[in-house]
Amino acid sequence: MPHKFSTLALAISCTLISVPTDVFSATVSSTVAQTFLGIGGSGAWWPHDLFNFPDSVRQNLSTLLFSDAGLGISSYRYNLGGGGVGVSNPVRAPQTPYVSAGVYNFSADPQGTFFLQQASNFGVPGITMFINSAPAPLTSNKFSCGGQFVNANGPAYATYIVDVAEHWREAGINISYISAMNEPDNSFGTPPTCGQEGMLVEPNQRSVLVSDLWNELNSRGLSNTIGILADETSAMGKFYLNLLDFIHTRPLGTAITEYPVWLPEVVDMVAHIAHHAYDFPSDASYLTYINSVKSIAPGKSTWMSEICCSVGTPTDTGIGFAEGFDPTINNALMWAGLVFQSFIIGGEAHYDFWTMVSNGLGCEPLTDPTCATTANSEGWTDGMIYYDPDYATNGNFELYIVKHFWVYKHFGNFVKPGTQRNPVTGSGANDVTLVVSNSTTYSVIAMNPNTTASTLSLTFPQSVCAKTAFLTSATENFATIAAATGKGSTWSLPLSATSLSTYIFDRSAC
Ligand SMILES: *[C@@H]1O[C@H](CO)[C@@H](O)[C@H](O)[C@H]1NC(C)=O
Ligand SMILES: *[C@@H]1O[C@H](CO)[C@@H](O)[C@H](O)[C@H]1NC(C)=O
Ligand SMILES: *[C@@H]1O[C@H](CO)[C@@H](O)[C@H](O)[C@H]1NC(C)=O
Ligand SMILES: *[C@@H]1O[C@H](CO)[C@@H](O)[C@H](O)[C@H]1NC(C)=O
Ligand SMILES: *[C@@H]1O[C@H](CO)[C@@H](O)[C@H](O)[C@H]1NC(C)=O
Repeated sequence: MPHKFSTLALAISCTLISVPTDVFSATVSSTVAQTFLGIGGSGAWWPHDLFNFPDSVRQNLSTLLFSDAGLGISSYRYNLGGGGVGVSNPVRAPQTPYVSAGVYNFSADPQGTFFLQQASNFGVPGITMFINSAPAPLTSNKFSCGGQFVNANGPAYATYIVDVAEHWREAGINISYISAMNEPDNSFGTPPTCGQEGMLVEPNQRSVLVSDLWNELNSRGLSNTIGILADETSAMGKFYLNLLDFIHTRPLGTAITEYPVWLPEVVDMVAHIAHHAYDFPSDASYLTYINSVKSIAPGKSTWMSEICCSVGTPTDTGIGFAEGFDPTINNALMWAGLVFQSFIIGGEAHYDFWTMVSNGLGCEPLTDPTCATTANSEGWTDGMIYYDPDYATNGNFELYIVKHFWVYKHFGNFVKPGTQRNPVTGSGANDVTLVVSNSTTYSVIAMNPNTTASTLSLTFPQSVCAKTAFLTSATENFATIAAATGKGSTWSLPLSATSLSTYIFDRSAC
């Protein structure tokens, strides 16, 4: 503000001090919307590195991911490797147990299977086995990237997948979902220098792959025990890498234009329609996707199963797939906004972040003490917990927790499988207030994306009693704060500037 206005500014700010914080009102519906099924993320590709860390750190990491003392995720996506043939980055080249038809080495990929076992030991209820590529001998080019699914090898691929799933189930690890074509729209490069595993599955091949897998599960009596997730296309609409194109056009394309090609034929064989959201759709595009699925596959639920890597702010500016590491509350709340979008706008029941643990700091934590807490343009915002990419040479086994961890903990701790969403209406209702309930409790997860504090006056469909609350902001990390105040069915929930809060209520009068 120019100098000559400073007296006026002072007068205005004195006036503002006497004005109460913004109060807005909303009402919780007694009619529930969706029942939640899971919150989680993927075990790729960090297990390769974290397996090498001291066991105390591996145990700490497992606690941070899998227990309610940490994120308390209810979904873990184990990446069944394709052998990494043709992938030049060893971290992204998980071994496969496949030796030859019917011959397996279940000691392969000790890194991935260690954290799979940890997730199971900690009681994560929903374990998915997802696959980027068939083992090299079964693909069109005999590599684990750059090639394509071969229809004639569908039965052999299905036998392999179900053999592996049965092996782990017999070992006590309840794999309950299989995704056999993660991002089938991309073969991820040219061997021997692919950046990761990948196998193109053309839209007209996808029903072949799904039905071969379903037939194999069915022949072993497993089709009601293990659900098929498909097809994990990268984008709900069209995926533009160029951020400006994306902002200007917000197009629709990939998933919903391809579903008509394969989905109707196998819709009864698919448990949930899983999609990624790397196109970062607007609310309107998200709804177009949801409604399109409703018309193609009535009664089927969609799962948001992978997303990461957007910079941007909680007021929805700058969102889109891009390089850049931003560990601050601003970007963590931007991402919380995406979770709200899937749950409230999309009405979806399941949400997985991509990699959870990442080495994409873009800076050197040993030489730069602010590395893990300061945004930079060299890293990637693809994790909640980070580690030093140079750990093997410098012996730095520290885990760096960023704000995204504390923000996701609100969802992981309270949006448990079986809880339900109670829609919120009224003038203060917005797309960043999520009310979830079970038989005893309402949990209100509310974001304030603004830089000024406000208060939500919330009316429940019954008398409730405020119990406790938790706050994540620039200065707080899931800190316990005062419970809401009020009585009967109407309560005040203070929302700090730029924060995410969870207020807990018993479903009975105090
Ligand atoms: C199985 O895989 C493990 C891990 O890579 C390896 O050490 C072992 O030699 C393999 N066993 C066989 C029989 O190939
Ligand atoms: C796996 O599922 C079986 C049958 O539902 C159950 O008894 C067992 O406790 C589950 N194991 C784990 C580790 O969740
Ligand atoms: C686990 O790691 C976090 C993050 O580095 C650290 O704050 C915490 O003290 C560790 N806990 C244990 C038990 O080592
Ligand atoms: C309901 O949710 C609360 C808060 O997450 C939890 O403490 C409680 O155990 C849940 N109750 C049931 C019956 O699941
Ligand atoms: C944030 O600001 C917008 C625009 O003024 C307002 O509509 C919204 O209610 C505010 N949200 C909160 C949680 O304070």
